[in-house]
Amino acid sequence: MITKTILSLGAGYVGGPTMAKIAEKCKDVTVYVGDLNQGRINAWNSDQLPVFEPGLDEIVKKCRGKNLHFIVPTEEHYKKADMIFVSVNTPTKSYGEGAGMAADLQYWELAARGIGQYARPGTIIVEKSTVPVKTAEAISVILNSEGVRYPVLSNPEFLAEGTAMKDLENPDRVLIGHEEDEQGRMAAGELKALYARWVPEEKILLTNVWSSELSKLTANAFLAQRVSSINSISALCEKTGASVAEISRAIGTDSRIGAKFLEASVGFGGSCFKKDILNLSYLSAQFGLPEVSEYWHSVVRMNDYQQERFVKQILSEQFNTVAGKKIVILGFAFKPDTNDTRESPAIYVCKRLLEEKAHLAIVDPQALGEAKTDLKGIDENVVYTEDAYAAAEGAHALVILTHWRQFGELDYRKIYSAMKKPAFLFDGRRLLDREKMYEIGFNVYSIGAKPLKKF
Ligand code: UDX
Ligand code: ADP
Repeated sequence: MITKTILSLGAGYVGGPTMAKIAEKCKDVTVYVGDLNQGRINAWNSDQLPVFEPGLDEIVKKCRGKNLHFIVPTEEHYKKADMIFVSVNTPTKSYGEGAGMAADLQYWELAARGIGQYARPGTIIVEKSTVPVKTAEAISVILNSEGVRYPVLSNPEFLAEGTAMKDLENPDRVLIGHEEDEQGRMAAGELKALYARWVPEEKILLTNVWSSELSKLTANAFLAQRVSSINSISALCEKTGASVAEISRAIGTDSRIGAKFLEASVGFGGSCFKKDILNLSYLSAQFGLPEVSEYWHSVVRMNDYQQERFVKQILSEQFNTVAGKKIVILGFAFKPDTNDTRESPAIYVCKRLLEEKAHLAIVDPQALGEAKTDLKGIDENVVYTEDAYAAAEGAHALVILTHWRQFGELDYRKIYSAMKKPAFLFDGRRLLDREKMYEIGFNVYSIGAKPLKKF
């Protein structure tokens, strides 16, 4: 079989960019990107895409209406598809068994039932969402219960938001997990042929389904663990006078360690890290491995600690009260170049400061709409703006939570002069040169370095 028509279920941060890239690279393949959320589909068909991702707009504009279509799926779309990618959301369960730890598979199961009802027998099902190990097996059971066979592949997504289009264009690897029978191998060959249009063959790795699923969780757990490890050292640096930046540089030059993911910060965010680690921890516990479960869980606990430590510093340095004080929050997205705020440390930090009765001015170039949703109901004392200078007017403190490039280019002398004195700067991303900021007049608290105080 040669794939001619693809249906993707889920037009989110994974489904949207991934399908746009496939449509761009495979002009002879028709790609339907489906979502149950009509509003999201309308946005994909408008000039204001629901996902901000550098390079995405151009590709969507080039392919949309040609071989790339954003739709609410109907029976017809399922029937036409040779291959169905499932990129629906799999959040951490908030209720019942495994609440707060296990993945909530209700959307996946709904998607599988739609497939079972309408898709042609033999349609290749590609699991793209991050799901717990053995989901493909469970999905196979749901799909194949009527005696119809659908090969189910696991093809985890490794793109990082903000660099999604580059990651898709030039992936470190593409992983395809398949069942070890004839049909599974053929299906994997079909998906491999699709990627091979632009990805070198040696980068396309075929594994069994379980290895593929567990590789995704493990990759995210390792990356997050690096961040938690360096963050734990940042706390020690602040006490001792060592600089976490110098330590990162020193250890990163060891080729066995490598330089990436050693940026100390207010904490990691994003839809994957926490969810995947909790998932890994839950799975390990379920399989009777409490020590393994505990080991990975501590990575999340360290991240929670880092965020709370940061809030405590904001409070204690401002004489233990921020009630009625205006605080500028620079950045709400969980990282730069995305409008995604899922699990962003900004949510936690802002909620805590609002509990302490602070007044916030939140500045973000892309994520203000999402910030409003995240703080809905508690944002009586919040203003949202793209103008950092207006926000700084009469403020007591600046708090940097996202290292947007734009924030590095602001005129901090101008900002300082607009602020109340003493003016405080809490840099949760080590974005600014602390010596320079101190010279301007700020009291500077930068993650992983001894504070520079005027008093
Ligand atoms: C991650 C994985 O990188 C990607 O492969 C997977 O497909 C999805 O999860 P993403 O969450 O989009 O991607 O972003 P990533 O760049 O990994 O950053 C995650 C969080 O860690 C961000 O909040 C980021 O600011 C933080 N981080 C990252 C640090 O605090 N320090 C670092 O050194 C690196
Ligand atoms: P991710 O970051 O994994 O892409 P998102 O939450 O951004 O997660 O996107 C997942 C999308 O999947 C949502 O837009 C949601 O409406 C959609 N979705 C959930 N269940 C289904 C389904 N059964 N069919 C189609 N779309 C679905």
